[in-house]
Amino acid sequence: MYVKSFLIACFLLFLGGNYLTAQDHEYIGAKKCKMCHNKPTTGAQYKIWSESKHAKAMDALKGDEKTDPKCIKCHATAGSVDPDLLAGLTMEEGVSCESCHGPGSAYKSNTIMKDKKKAIANGLIIPDEKVCLKCHNDESPNFKGFNYDEYFKKIAHPIPPKEEE
Ligand code: HEC
Ligand code: HEC
Ligand code: HEC
Ligand code: HEC
Repeated sequence: MYVKSFLIACFLLFLGGNYLTAQDHEYIGAKKCKMCHNKPTTGAQYKIWSESKHAKAMDALKGDEKTDPKCIKCHATAGSVDPDLLAGLTMEEGVSCESCHGPGSAYKSNTIMKDKKKAIANGLIIPDEKVCLKCHNDESPNFKGFNYDEYFKKIAHPIPPKEEE
């Protein structure tokens, strides 16, 4: 009996421990990404995002909706994550880089970012359709349907191919 509850306690600790480390990375906000991702020669991802509906998603909400958990869970990255993990990210940023690419506190340094494998090991997500479907689904009161190829084209922000010297 005791052995059994001890084993269960160990298992729960193990689960809890994993849960905590997986959640460790913090949300630093789009301005931090801007430092390195806003040059026209490398794709100006920040500018493209800041002109997109995602960056303005909080503007779609009125009055009390701006603090309603039922709305901000999809209209703002900051509205859907553990508040203890907010390290620079604000509600006003709406659906920011980190909703799709994962919290940036551990992958943001240049040496890690340059190495795709290391960046992924430190929390970077290369998003696919599944990431979009977290919000683009019929739980949204204004759902208009979702076609990945079509919707992706509207938010595309590629790194242009490097020019030959
Ligand atoms: C200190 C500079 C720096 C910061 C800050 C930074 N990045 Fe990067 N990032 C880079 C560099 C350099 C690359 C590699 C570019 C290349 O491969 O040409 C990169 C690559 C990427 C890639 C492409 C990975 C791949 O290989 O497909 C993504 C996605 C990305 N960054 C997202 C972000 C996000 C989101 C943030 C903010 C949370 C961020 N970055 C902050 C420098 C930075
Ligand atoms: C499950 C995620 C989700 C939830 C929850 C959600 N929204 Fe949205 N909302 C979206 C998405 C995604 C769109 C973009 C419309 C589309 O393309 O389907 C959107 C669009 C909108 C728009 C713009 C509509 C238009 O015609 O362009 C308004 C206004 C809006 N939502 C208000 C709200 C309010 C108010 C709440 C809370 C009661 C809410 N949303 C909850 C995901 C969500
Ligand atoms: C709505 C989701 C979403 C948001 C918000 C978003 N991205 Fe992305 N990002 C993507 C997707 C999807 C890709 C393409 C992944 C692939 O290679 O298939 C991508 C690719 C990238 C790439 C690599 C491009 C390439 O050609 O390899 C960089 C760099 C990047 N994003 C940076 C950013 C930065 C910086 C921000 C915020 C300013 C941002 N992204 C916001 C979804 C998003
Ligand atoms: C965290 C939630 C969230 C995620 C993840 C997300 N979106 Fe959105 N998206 C929204 C909301 C909210 C809106 C509506 C913003 C508004 O109208 O103010 C929206 C709007 C859009 C629009 C504009 C639609 C229109 O009516 O013009 C496109 C395109 C889009 N999203 C593509 C994508 C793609 C592609 C992905 C995945 C790579 C993605 N989104 C991931 C929440 C999200």
